Amino acid sequence: MNLHFICNGQAVQIDVEPNARAIDVLRDVLGLTGTKEGCGRGECGACTVLLDGKPVNSCMVLAGKLEGRTVLTIEGVAGADGSLHPIQEAFLDVGAVQCGFCTPGMVLSTKALLDENDSPTIDEIEDALSGNLCRCTGYGKIVDGVLEASERLAQGTQEHGAKP
Ligand code: FES
Ligand code: FES
Repeated sequence: MNLHFICNGQAVQIDVEPNARAIDVLRDVLGLTGTKEGCGRGECGACTVLLDGKPVNSCMVLAGKLEGRTVLTIEGVAGADGSLHPIQEAFLDVGAVQCGFCTPGMVLSTKALLDENDSPTIDEIEDALSGNLCRCTGYGKIVDGVLEASERLAQGTQEHGAKP
């Protein structure tokens, strides 16, 4: 089947098998290997991408569901010049990244949260990240990373707003 969608701001047109999964298209066809496959059955969140701004497990989405929609993967989160997004910087600075396998999914779930709620409570953060498993950090540092990111984004907005 022929598929058209927007991925990280670029129009994509590809042919895929009808039973292909979104994660396979992203990783194997488009080469976007920042999207990780852990469990392959909707339990770990390593494969999280944003579909029309909402986090989904791309291992559980048929590629056909991407038709006409907008996908954001971790490769589209950093700036075009390679500069890290404030969420990525905050995660690094507070030590929320260890092996890094869960990190793309964590960052994307965090982005979806902060795009809707710029100063979440710890409960709201834990709820938003409840579908993302981390085998390394114990989660405390990740929650710290989200709080730090929300502060930095708020600061950036204020600074931006203060410019003439
Ligand atoms: S790989 Fe998709 S949820 Fe685990
Ligand atoms: S940092 Fe290793 S799985 Fe989360």
